[in-house]
Amino acid sequence: MLYLIGTGLYYLNDLPLRAINEMKECDEVLLERYTNLNDISFLKELEKDIGKKIEVVGREVMESDIILEKAAKEKLAVLIPGDPLAATTHFSLIQECKKRGITTRIFHSSSIFTAAGETGLSLYKFGGTTSIPIYSEHFHPESFFDVIEKNIECGYHSLVLLEVKNKEEFVEPYKAIEILKGIERKKEIKIIDWKNVIVISKIGSDEQKILKANNNEIKNLEPPCSLIITGKLNENEKEALKTIN
Ligand SMILES: C[S@@+](CC[C@H](N)C(=O)[O-])C[C@H]1O[C@@H](n2cnc3c(N)ncnc32)[C@H](O)[C@@H]1O
Repeated sequence: MLYLIGTGLYYLNDLPLRAINEMKECDEVLLERYTNLNDISFLKELEKDIGKKIEVVGREVMESDIILEKAAKEKLAVLIPGDPLAATTHFSLIQECKKRGITTRIFHSSSIFTAAGETGLSLYKFGGTTSIPIYSEHFHPESFFDVIEKNIECGYHSLVLLEVKNKEEFVEPYKAIEILKGIERKKEIKIIDWKNVIVISKIGSDEQKILKANNNEIKNLEPPCSLIITGKLNENEKEALKTIN
């Protein structure tokens, strides 16, 4: 049996209460943190609450056969930041379990995909999501721009996820903005409405920030962060954006 449990947007204790009760009945509980950086200061308390240790596992474990082998033998729960199936590759685990006759249960949770609604932008009007990865010497893709361009053509907003490895290694919003402006210059186009680009950081935490891209404060944001490139705005959205600095 495999339980994939979303821990919610930021704090580990954003967990659904029902999932905590289920974890008490599990043989083993693992926690993955490579798909997002969340706050796990509640870990010790949670371990006490459910009466077992929680092991933190990386991508190498999640993408190996270890999870499937364990789930074939025991009741295994894996905790995943946000919603377990939003911008993760964990659906492949469900597929594989189905093939092997292993029962799965998903506990959905709050996610950046819906929290983006806190900006006042209508979730009905978002197009495809894209992400900007951490650049290195020989790795600087630009394909995310195609998604943004298509969305803008259709009048849709774009949620742009910014990769985060840890507190020090992440795509800083101001750098993502420099990259996007650089691509616009290279393509000799001006399609992004820079006055209405929104930067969001640590949404769901006590330190969350929602700022316009031209606000100087965006240079000091902590991860996880995302950008929202707005498409065609309706009157309600225009009003909502007026309240963001
Ligand atoms: C690979 S996605 C995983 C999303 C997660 N499964 C969920 O449902 O929220 C991680 C990215 O989402 C964005 N993100 C996640 N939580 C966030 C938050 N609380 N505030 C701002 N951006 C966030 C960041 O861009 C981060 O790099």
